[in-house]
Amino acid sequence: MSAFKWQVSVVLPTYNESENMPMIIPKICSVLEDAGIRGEVIVVDDNSPDGTAEAARKFAETLPVRVVVRTEERGLATAVIAGFNLSEAQVCVVMDADGSHPVEKLPEMIRPILDGRADITVGSRHVTEGGIGHWPLHRQIVSKAAALMTLGLTKMSDPTSGFMAIRRTFLQGLELNPVGWKIVLEIVVKARTDRLIEVPFTFNDRELGESKMSLKEQWNYIRHLCRLYKFRMPTLAEFIRFCIVGFSGVFVDMGIVIGVKTLFALDTRLCAVFGFMAAMSTNYLFHRRWSFEGARGTPVVRSYLIFVAVCCVGLAGRLGVMHILIEYADLDGGYRYILTNFIGIVAGTLVNYTGSRFFAFSPDRLAFGRKK
Ligand code: GDD
Ligand code: MN
Repeated sequence: MSAFKWQVSVVLPTYNESENMPMIIPKICSVLEDAGIRGEVIVVDDNSPDGTAEAARKFAETLPVRVVVRTEERGLATAVIAGFNLSEAQVCVVMDADGSHPVEKLPEMIRPILDGRADITVGSRHVTEGGIGHWPLHRQIVSKAAALMTLGLTKMSDPTSGFMAIRRTFLQGLELNPVGWKIVLEIVVKARTDRLIEVPFTFNDRELGESKMSLKEQWNYIRHLCRLYKFRMPTLAEFIRFCIVGFSGVFVDMGIVIGVKTLFALDTRLCAVFGFMAAMSTNYLFHRRWSFEGARGTPVVRSYLIFVAVCCVGLAGRLGVMHILIEYADLDGGYRYILTNFIGIVAGTLVNYTGSRFFAFSPDRLAFGRKK
């Protein structure tokens, strides 16, 4: 006999699912009982106007069911976290309350964790034997595209699945910070365990009530992915931000050159110097505020001057690379100078990024020699 009162807590997030409560709650309890698993159900309802909470509470007298009503907060992912936080069981499960996730699959989801063969199991529609119900084509496409976008984050075949079981100790200490719906993806990316088993299942179309999936949730999904990529690959994310800012500098530079030329009719080369200085300054501000986290509190003048120096070194690097290509690889005639310039830009960017990261915007370096 284990020390846990419940082996499993099955968390059901609900919003307007009153009709589905009598369908799913008794079924979960009987499937678990038949499988010899001691389990409870935790319904986390966001104060649904249709009386979902009351419908669920009816079962609390006879079955191991807890009902939580949240009035302050709304949203699928945070509801699931709230449910997990109430659990004291060995394993936590999350599943849709509308019957989309087959209750019969619960033992197959839970057993591998109880037996110590896995830390996480995820219901998958895309492994052999899995499947989707009668989804319209556009939803199939959206689902496939959503899965492709997670390629750098996880090897899971069905990363947008909402059906999961997890050993509860793996939730402790995780800093979960999801926007929107994809709690399973959030947990799998952050839990960093390879002991994950995918359990095939066929997604049942809901028969009662309606889906809460919306365009807003799809936008939230993109925001969520950005956060997760940042979590997984912080340096790459920083470098991409650096390049976006650098690209914005092109427009500042061009704008200043056109402006100064139009207003004062100066020599174009002189205008270019102004353009360069202006772009360097706006880039500095954006890098400070956005590209480099942790750069905000650093001494401005000092870090700006270092950044200017870095940009000069970057320019020298760029010209050096171009010089080699022109002199030794004959990359100048015809339109080949465009390629040469492009390679020069890439080289300069790499120098700028390295110098910015390790010198101009490095909090440690900038603090050096300063009184605490
Ligand atoms: N507490 C709470 N708060 N529950 C919610 C909320 C909310 O704001 N929004 C939705 N839910 C509950 C629903 O009541 C249901 O039990 C479950 O979350 C899933 O919602 P559905 O509206 O049925 O979603 P779906 O069928 O469109 O999407 C399902 O399939 C997707 C696969 O593409 C979900 O499983 C998704 O997580 C999954 O990605
Ligand atoms: Mn559904």
